Amino acid sequence: YCRALAVGVQDGIADEDVERWLPEARKVHERILKERESGLLAFWDIIEDEKVEERVLEIAEHFKGRLVDNIVVLGIGGSALGAQALFDALVSPFYNLTTRPRFFVLDNIDPLTFSQFLDMVDLGRTVFVVISKSGTTAETLSQFLIVKERVVSLLGREALKKHFVVVTDPDKGVLRSWVRESGVLSCDIPPGLGGRFSVLSAVGLVPAALLGLDIRELREGARAMAALCETASVIENPAYCNGLYHVIADLDKGKNIHVYWAYSDSLYSFADWLRQLIAESLGKKVGEKLYGPTPVKARGVTDQHSQLQLYREGPNNKIITFIGVKSWPADVDIPPAEEESLADAGYLGGKKMGELFHAEQRATAWALAEAGRPNITLWFPQVTPYTIGQAFFLYELQTVFMGYLYGVNPFDQPGVELSKKMTYGLMGRKGFEEFVRYL
Ligand code: PA5
Repeated sequence: YCRALAVGVQDGIADEDVERWLPEARKVHERILKERESGLLAFWDIIEDEKVEERVLEIAEHFKGRLVDNIVVLGIGGSALGAQALFDALVSPFYNLTTRPRFFVLDNIDPLTFSQFLDMVDLGRTVFVVISKSGTTAETLSQFLIVKERVVSLLGREALKKHFVVVTDPDKGVLRSWVRESGVLSCDIPPGLGGRFSVLSAVGLVPAALLGLDIRELREGARAMAALCETASVIENPAYCNGLYHVIADLDKGKNIHVYWAYSDSLYSFADWLRQLIAESLGKKVGEKLYGPTPVKARGVTDQHSQLQLYREGPNNKIITFIGVKSWPADVDIPPAEEESLADAGYLGGKKMGELFHAEQRATAWALAEAGRPNITLWFPQVTPYTIGQAFFLYELQTVFMGYLYGVNPFDQPGVELSKKMTYGLMGRKGFEEFVRYL
């Protein structure tokens, strides 16, 4: 699908553009191979580690048969976006209205939302999955302290084990210390695995397994994509090929806004997960050089009536990825427009809603291509645990590949860390006084 991007699109990417980059891309492949062999690519190792699934399923088993009305993830960034993406991809948007346990990801610490949540929830029937790689993030810790205190005062300290699961570093951080003290169930996040690369570890799997989603199929999909991405041939390797086109678009063609346009409500949160993966991994300063495309998410078809005008006729500084779905487990027939007054709507009658949806996606891609706006389509045959697992891995590897082509470290996030330290300073955490600089 990558090659389709260039064909006939004015201001697109020609074969010569790609060929110029191939020697560099091959070096990156060699580097990835070496790092894999040395165990430096934790996001790859994790999908091959069967113990992860076993431990996660053990935890899910522990809660089976209990009266649980709510599963609540407390976590932020890479410790939240994957779980939300999985939930939105694999269950109905109306799930929480009709099914128990309901599922919530409380990543933000907006005091109004959080207090409204506390007013609404029955703590006696709630399981909190506290996720923090570092085990020190202020947002997650503050939420944790609040709900822990409420559970203890309402149900007693002995109830903690029934209401908490912690996913964190195996050794470090406040949360790990608390696990040791309280004896609550926990799962490890391997030390080398960064938050935004962790969805296929316990970080995404524990919430998914508690909801009864098929985590084996999810990881099977990731492994299948990993196998496809072993090839050194840049054009045949989906992660390398797509990554290379995006780097060329950014560095050589001035298209540094990368739009991820999910043509499925179920994949909108996936685009959100992707936005973080790209922004935090690639937005870096190397010496005096500044790197990183700006990832933007959009929803199809909704944003045709909001963003499309800009994407087609505004500055030509974007490359757009449509994330499409070939078929859905359910579709809706549009009935004939029988009344004479509705004659102009007659062309819709007898069609399926999915047909209209696909026509709109196609028309949007055409309208963009005609205006010389490069776009690409990633098709999900259907959204299933398997295909979403494939897509997670595809973009993880693609992001690492792009990072190495840019010459940045995709695994660190010094900007995020600085703001965390400044927050600690402002909130009076000992040892962080020097970060309070602008009072
Ligand atoms: O990707 C990352 O590293 C970050 O977005 C983290 O996931 C986020 O800051 C939360 O950190 P932690 O999981 O340590 O609480």
